[in-house]
Amino acid sequence: MSTPVKKVPIHLQSAQNRLLIKHGKVVNEDDITEDDIYIEDGVIKQLGRNLIIPGGTRVIDARGKYVLPGGIDPHTHFEMEFMGAKSVDDFYQGTKAAVAGGTTMIIDFVMPKKGESILDAFYEYRQKGDDKVCCDYGLHVALTHWNEQVRREMEVLCKEHGVNSFKVFMAYGFMLNDSELYSVFETCQKLGAVAQVHAENGAIIAKNVERLLAKGITGPEGHEMSRPEEVEAEAVNRACVIAKQVNAPIYILNVTTEESGNIIRTARSKGQTVFGEVRAGSIGLIGDPRNANMITAPAIRSRPETPFQLLGLLASDVLQVTGSDNCTFNKSQKEMGKNDFSKIPNGVNGVEDRMSVIWEKGVQSGMIDPCRFVAITSTNAAKIFNIYPRKGCIAVGSDADLVIWDPTKTRTISASTHHQAVDFNIFEGMVCHGVPEFVIVNGRVCVDDGQLRVVQGHGHFVETPVYAPFVYDPEKIADLKPVRNGTHDDNLSEHVHKVTIED
Ligand code: URP
Ligand code: ZN
Ligand code: ZN
Repeated sequence: MSTPVKKVPIHLQSAQNRLLIKHGKVVNEDDITEDDIYIEDGVIKQLGRNLIIPGGTRVIDARGKYVLPGGIDPHTHFEMEFMGAKSVDDFYQGTKAAVAGGTTMIIDFVMPKKGESILDAFYEYRQKGDDKVCCDYGLHVALTHWNEQVRREMEVLCKEHGVNSFKVFMAYGFMLNDSELYSVFETCQKLGAVAQVHAENGAIIAKNVERLLAKGITGPEGHEMSRPEEVEAEAVNRACVIAKQVNAPIYILNVTTEESGNIIRTARSKGQTVFGEVRAGSIGLIGDPRNANMITAPAIRSRPETPFQLLGLLASDVLQVTGSDNCTFNKSQKEMGKNDFSKIPNGVNGVEDRMSVIWEKGVQSGMIDPCRFVAITSTNAAKIFNIYPRKGCIAVGSDADLVIWDPTKTRTISASTHHQAVDFNIFEGMVCHGVPEFVIVNGRVCVDDGQLRVVQGHGHFVETPVYAPFVYDPEKIADLKPVRNGTHDDNLSEHVHKVTIED
């Protein structure tokens, strides 16, 4: 029997957790300032210059570097049973890898079995996650079937368990039909939740798979052939049309094509609340149809211009969020489909490398600036899932989830050095500018001058309340204006040895 991990409340942790980050370029979604950051008890207590801070505080010099809000990866699948296999990164190894790459919070998906109580499945995921996570985490809940019990349990999850987002599938054996999607969206709207959609036309994919296998196309190239771009776009459009009928906000997961992006652009331009997310793999790579290890759904497209187009959509706010869709299966598990591409477990890595890949392809290439990088890797997810400004920004009173990012250093991504459990890396050999030299998770230095020092169980479950203003009442987002300068009011006075550190 394993010993349960005792969580030390942040306020009881020692003075080693007093930190001053000096001389860095502090990046938020809307500006870059040259401020120092004082952290205590896991929270940003002061922001500004010439801060008065207690003696004994550790000082980290961030001169020449950016200080970014920790990444929020809103799309992971740790230790998930899927397509007859179980993903190999668990909540420990997955969050450890996340932190190594500069991500300080993940949101995973509870995957109930078809017919299972979604509440029971949620409890199981809390049990899997709570004692293992190295950083904070939240949970979306997938709806793999639909009935009155599911509706009642959605309400319980929203009202009592801090869940505000539900995923539906338009493909796979557990896809919902249009009438069920309508009911889910309507229920989400009534609860103030966000409906997330895996948008692909499952009926067409099933017929295409049958046809391709009958023609003798059994290799990995059959995957993208069976789910071409228009099969995704049709589902994105249908999801938008259904959501519009009941005035429900929706969030399209893993937008992989410009065509899908344009459908979202049109819906948004007509005033519909639709958000779009892009997978790091779809930004970092051109799909190789012969490579089973790259198989995920919707597919990483083999069209060479796609990554550039997706970045353009992220840059112009047609799409708002990047996730990893980290769902890792080892080579031996991918082999399950060696005679039939439709049996290759779908999923790729990305939780560790998302920040670097987006920086390299987005900021280093000049397509987006550091502020937009922060928006699409952290702030927008925090706003949509209603944890802003506690997360997703550097402000007085926010959680001290920070990354000191050296844009001049490079690293080469490799399975031989990554921290994930999976035995290959889809980004193998990619050289990325931007290295997370320090990663601070709830005030604790978990990457210290490049050295990874995570603690299993250090993270907590973070409730995501319903009725996010960003989603349901965008005008109110201004009321949440984070404090960008000054001092957090409580208890600085309790420290007797105050010193001022001069510039
Ligand atoms: O292919 C993928 N993305 N696997 C994980 C499950 C899902 O649909 O997100
Ligand atoms: Zn999906
Ligand atoms: Zn996914």
